[in-house]
Amino acid sequence: MDKVLLSKTAAAMVAKGKGILAADESSGTCEKRFKSVGVECTEENRRAYRNLLFSTAGVEQFLSGVILFDETARQKANDGAPIPEYLAGKGIIPGIKVDKGTVQLPLAAAGELVTEGLDGLAKRLEEYFKMGCRFAKWRAVITIGENTPSHAGIYANAHVLARYAAACQAASIVPMIEPEVLLDGNHTAERSEEVHEATLRATYAALAAYNVPVEHLILKTSMVVSGKDNPRQAGVDEVAERTVRVLKRTVPAAQPGIVFLSGGQSDEAATAHLNAMAAMKNLPWPLTFSYSRALQNPALKTWKGQAGNVAAAQKAFHHRAHMNGLACQGKWKQELERQAA
Ligand code: 13P
Repeated sequence: MDKVLLSKTAAAMVAKGKGILAADESSGTCEKRFKSVGVECTEENRRAYRNLLFSTAGVEQFLSGVILFDETARQKANDGAPIPEYLAGKGIIPGIKVDKGTVQLPLAAAGELVTEGLDGLAKRLEEYFKMGCRFAKWRAVITIGENTPSHAGIYANAHVLARYAAACQAASIVPMIEPEVLLDGNHTAERSEEVHEATLRATYAALAAYNVPVEHLILKTSMVVSGKDNPRQAGVDEVAERTVRVLKRTVPAAQPGIVFLSGGQSDEAATAHLNAMAAMKNLPWPLTFSYSRALQNPALKTWKGQAGNVAAAQKAFHHRAHMNGLACQGKWKQELERQAA
């Protein structure tokens, strides 16, 4: 466990004005996204699309890291270099998704999920480190429903997250722990806040139980928003207030930083929410983005699998990265007002 390297990596992941691109969609998720724009989900198309994102000129100004899927970490960039090496050459830290997806938690209510992937993890981390990956993501999913989440669901996921985090640190890889509370459903923002609080409390208690130092990890969290089918949608300020309140209650100040997932929010909402939180005074940790959809959607829709659309798609991707680079410093709204004046 190289504590100096862990500290250096974690600090660089949340460097000022930068955030993380999540490009670690599994092949199944990729298939859904590609289908929506009429692109066949072949290995070569996935490589071409990811390379379109990674080779966008100047995007490294706004990106500290990229989360890769195993397949991508073994593919080549357009210049022939292995992708992790290509990213590191641009000053972007390569990260890797290490969980193996979710399954139904036995004996629990339908929809109560737990994430798999601990078996053989230490060996896989050793290999990923050799490939140049310096942080690793694990996504746990918490569903809000009539009978979920239960204590068992929260407890199971918290313990698995803590065990994966310990394995990462032992391999000198920074864990990016992601307990995602889904926005699916008709719940209120208040209920989402309660579930976030219970989830984060259990997660940090499990981390302590497994002796995982929070100095060497990054939290990737959802924001406290209203369920997407609830007719009353919390506004930007309410989302920011509720999210920061719950984080202040549960996340130790010793942690180097917190990043957010976009979770199905619109591109603009994800940027506006981040901006409102990052603009708050005296936060104990830097806050930034680790978005997949909210960074990639416009680029994917523009690309449509056509080589002739690559430049326009890169422009769209650069724009979203730029806007979120401003938002994580709380400067996005001022920039919009300046442009409108
Ligand atoms: P979204 O930003 O699309 O939610 O994806 C982030 C992510 O990494 C989910 O695991």
